[in-house]
Amino acid sequence: MINVLMSGCNGKMGQVITKLSANFDNIKIAAGISRQPDKFNNPYPVYTDCMSVKEKIDVVIDFSNPDSIPQLLDFCKTRKTALVMATTGLRTEDYQNVQQLSEILPVFMSANMSLGINVLIELAKNAAAKLGLDFDIEILEKHHNEKKDAPSGTALMIANEVNEQLNHSMDFIYDRSKNIEKRSANEIGISSIRGGTIPGEHSVFFAGKDEILEIKHTALSRDIFGMGAIKAAIYVANKQNGLYDMKSMLKEMI
Ligand SMILES: NC(=O)c1ccc[n+]([C@@H]2O[C@H](COP(=O)([O-])OP(=O)(O)OC[C@H]3O[C@@H](n4cnc5c(N)ncnc54)[C@H](O)[C@@H]3O)[C@@H](O)[C@H]2O)c1
Repeated sequence: MINVLMSGCNGKMGQVITKLSANFDNIKIAAGISRQPDKFNNPYPVYTDCMSVKEKIDVVIDFSNPDSIPQLLDFCKTRKTALVMATTGLRTEDYQNVQQLSEILPVFMSANMSLGINVLIELAKNAAAKLGLDFDIEILEKHHNEKKDAPSGTALMIANEVNEQLNHSMDFIYDRSKNIEKRSANEIGISSIRGGTIPGEHSVFFAGKDEILEIKHTALSRDIFGMGAIKAAIYVANKQNGLYDMKSMLKEMI
């Protein structure tokens, strides 16, 4: 049995994972961390601070806020647990600290835990390789009105992967309102829409002369991220130290 500490257990994703984990007999949420009062009647103890957790923990799943990261990394180090880092909006030092942790412990990190988005990235890289700089690349993402970070971690992940495919030749443009100039071929425009309860949409446009290729992924519910995170926890629980992601997990699954 893999014992999980669910960080952000009373948030939207924490509750999705609490519900989905009941369908797995090899994984159990042993404890949760929440800053909000525990109003959900969770089937596990909930703490406000991870250092107070008494239960045996094998993997921490984090869907909370970048501010919780320093304490979580200390917890993983002290208790020698694996980590599934799904929180987005990380600062550069957070990335560096997570990477450092992966030198001594198994860490799985992905800004998007869905299978479909990871296939979208492969398709977008392929399109970029074939269409090159003859087509303008734009990314549009849409999310619910409670999302704090923009652009989404997923939009940045797509942009980074496409940029890597194009030998890091692209600049990311987030705001055209102050730049009264034509776009250049070396740009990836990244735009965000926030509204209502949209679980998440990402489109990559390749706009050429008289033709547009659009590759689009729509998340219809949060369950896809929850399932991905649970599978990632099972996958990473028995790994050696190292940094793992959806790509490495999918490679081993196929
Ligand atoms: N990787 C993915 O596939 C994926 C999918 C969905 C959401 N996310 C990300 O996961 C995070 C959480 O998403 P959500 O929709 O569940 O948000 P949410 O706001 O519903 O929940 C966040 C939870 O974290 C808690 N929290 C906030 N600050 C904290 C802190 N400093 N210490 C401890 N706990 C803290 C909140 O009390 C809340 O319970 C966001 O960063 C979001 O972008 C990632």
